[in-house]
Amino acid sequence: MKDNNKSHINYKEHWNKVYSSNDMTDLGWYEEIPKPSLDFISECGLDKNAVILDVGSGATTLIDSLIQQGYRNIIATDISTIALERSKTRLSKENSAFVKWIVDDITNTQNLENTLIVDLWHDRTVLHFLTEKEQQAGYLATLKQVVKKGGYVIIAVFSLEGAKKCSGLDVVNYDQKMISEFLGNDFELIKYLDHLYINPSGGERPYVYTLFRRESI
Ligand SMILES: C[S@@+](CC[C@H](N)C(=O)[O-])C[C@H]1O[C@@H](n2cnc3c(N)ncnc32)[C@H](O)[C@@H]1O
Repeated sequence: MKDNNKSHINYKEHWNKVYSSNDMTDLGWYEEIPKPSLDFISECGLDKNAVILDVGSGATTLIDSLIQQGYRNIIATDISTIALERSKTRLSKENSAFVKWIVDDITNTQNLENTLIVDLWHDRTVLHFLTEKEQQAGYLATLKQVVKKGGYVIIAVFSLEGAKKCSGLDVVNYDQKMISEFLGNDFELIKYLDHLYINPSGGERPYVYTLFRRESI
């Protein structure tokens, strides 16, 4: 039976359990090299001091890659304290200093600074977990609050052909048009990519990657 009332799910607990009971390399979204994200980020032509916010960062190797590429102003935010600890302890102390670690629920932020202005919002597989209108509205309000005019948004989620669940949770499947409608007219779709991700168990997971630019005025 479909669970139509998600309000009882404690998402922080859920995700902390996922990260404490699995090796990072076994997670169904693990990437040794996050190539599609890196390719999309390089399209933005950002300065190395640009503020990059990785939403629902988890324990992703994207952080390592960005530091390696010389980015020096990275913010990793996630609802799971344990996920961010995993990334932080993997990095050297010197490299970890290039990252601000912020535990927060992106649908109802308390700890992301109100004044935060970011050049790039990167989300790989968070939006699709937001199945309730209220959660989606909270996510969008934060995005609009923090992404600067002329800034970029990368959102990668399970595509319409993709899985209907992940990590035991229902997901909403998208195509590039749906993400475009979700963001609204201020955000221009620059490119998208249908990407077949193969997870660590060999399962095929079709994703759609999208890159948007916010109007500059
Ligand atoms: C499938 S994982 C992807 C992690 C990472 N982006 C990657 O590509 O490896 C989804 C992540 O979203 C985080 N997450 C889920 N709901 C969230 C929310 N409401 N606010 C912030 N993070 C959330 C989870 O803790 C988890 O780390």
